[in-house]
Amino acid sequence: MAFLALDGLTASYGGKADVLNDVTLRFAKGEVVGLIGPSGSGKSSLLRALVGLLKPRAGRVTIGDEVVDYASRASLRAARDRFAIVFQQYNLFQNMTALRNVAIAPTLVKKRPSAQVEEEARALLTKVGLGAKFNAYPDELSGGQQQRVAIARALALHPDILLLDEVTSALDPELVNEVLDTIRALHAEGMTMLIVSHEMAFIREVATTVVFMDQGRVVEVGPPAQIFDAPQSPRLKEFTAKILRH
Ligand SMILES: Nc1ncnc2c1ncn2[C@@H]1O[C@H](COP(=O)(O)OP(=O)(O)O)[C@@H](O)[C@H]1O
Ligand SMILES: [Mg+2]
Repeated sequence: MAFLALDGLTASYGGKADVLNDVTLRFAKGEVVGLIGPSGSGKSSLLRALVGLLKPRAGRVTIGDEVVDYASRASLRAARDRFAIVFQQYNLFQNMTALRNVAIAPTLVKKRPSAQVEEEARALLTKVGLGAKFNAYPDELSGGQQQRVAIARALALHPDILLLDEVTSALDPELVNEVLDTIRALHAEGMTMLIVSHEMAFIREVATTVVFMDQGRVVEVGPPAQIFDAPQSPRLKEFTAKILRH
């Protein structure tokens, strides 16, 4: 059985044209899904729809054996417990240390004991390579380090599925790899992830499945070797011909 299933997911912003159109996808646990496609094709909207930031107007999302009812607050809350999302702009709290940034939501929102949460936050920051930066404030960290704090903060919520939306796009080129290394390590641990990224070499390396979107629709789904080396659809052929030239 699929771990995450999307069936006919359709959504628009404020009743305008659909930005997600009949999206049907199935993923197994531990998969790393690379979401690619031209700007405006609906990649971010798809991640936003999964966490209920964009309400689907039709279709169904199933996680494990639970159907998410986006109209029900309880169901939406349960879904939000299972996903964590990290954006290009990491949005850390500037007045809090790295440790506090990671520990705050589990302590205040999940009401977990603070000693236990802090110990876990230290372990998570160490895991993302920031074992020496517990007490640093965001403005004392590089962009790559701040983004890794944001990833640790997402992991502190114990998601079943991690959603990453262009998490390296705002970074200087030399800082991109340290974030990609963190994602590689999470994959090795079996974390299920949906990754929107322009780092095609990285997607090719790490993705178990690649989804190519255009105009709110899924155009082609396949393993990286198919998507990048033997695309089937004309639209994907055109896209890969463009991106692989530079
Ligand atoms: N907040 C918004 N309000 C209205 N339209 C939006 C909003 N965000 C995105 N869109 C539109 O939705 C479409 C898909 O955008 P998006 O999901 O951001 O694409 P991608 O992430 O693939 O670049 C685009 O046409 C975009 O202009
Ligand atoms: Mg986007």
